[in-house]
Amino acid sequence: MNVNQLKKSVALSAINYISFSDVIGIGTGSTIKFFIEGLGKKNFFIKGAVSSSSSTSLLLKKYKIKELYLNDVKFLSFYIDGADEINMFFEMIKGGGAALTKEKIIAKKSKKFICIVDEFKIVNTLGFFPLPLEIIPMSYKFVKCELKKIGGNVKLRKNIITEHGNIILDIFNLYIYDPYYIENKINSIPGVVTVGLFSLRKADLILIGTKNGVKIIKKI
Ligand code: 5RP
Repeated sequence: MNVNQLKKSVALSAINYISFSDVIGIGTGSTIKFFIEGLGKKNFFIKGAVSSSSSTSLLLKKYKIKELYLNDVKFLSFYIDGADEINMFFEMIKGGGAALTKEKIIAKKSKKFICIVDEFKIVNTLGFFPLPLEIIPMSYKFVKCELKKIGGNVKLRKNIITEHGNIILDIFNLYIYDPYYIENKINSIPGVVTVGLFSLRKADLILIGTKNGVKIIKKI
């Protein structure tokens, strides 16, 4: 099985957790694309979904899944999303697709976060994948200077403006031994909209696409 097949199998397995009465939050990325396609092709009508990006909204439209807006929704049963890396403490790096800010807001609002990943995303220590940050453009040099105190090599992601008109920095080679501390530390720098570290709001359930089927990791 190649990576895309693993992504597809894990994405389809997540559909079993959803019921007709649910309003769910939906992330962004290639794994999520398989999830939305699966939901659409099954003709499985949920109450609605809150989208984390314009690309996800387009897919919802294509598969006739009703899009709802966060401000109009009282309760989200699940947030379903992929990740760039996840550790066995359910902490993640996300934002490879630059949608981290909306993803974090919707994840926090949701009752349960189901993270769907292929087996290559599982790590012991977060940070091999560059850590993304969405920042206000005028704060670029200041934030870069502040990040030097934390470590790693900061690079501006080229040709990307987020849906909120901001820019993305990626921190390379920052091995994150204390994700909770690093998330709080980076989020407290003025100019940072959000960092793609999900430790304050972790996943609740991890579904892992492996060559031997989908593995389920629950919090004890
Ligand atoms: C987008 C994300 C995605 O969940 C993450 O990049 C994983 O993407 P993919 O499913 O394409 O591997 O955080 O901002």
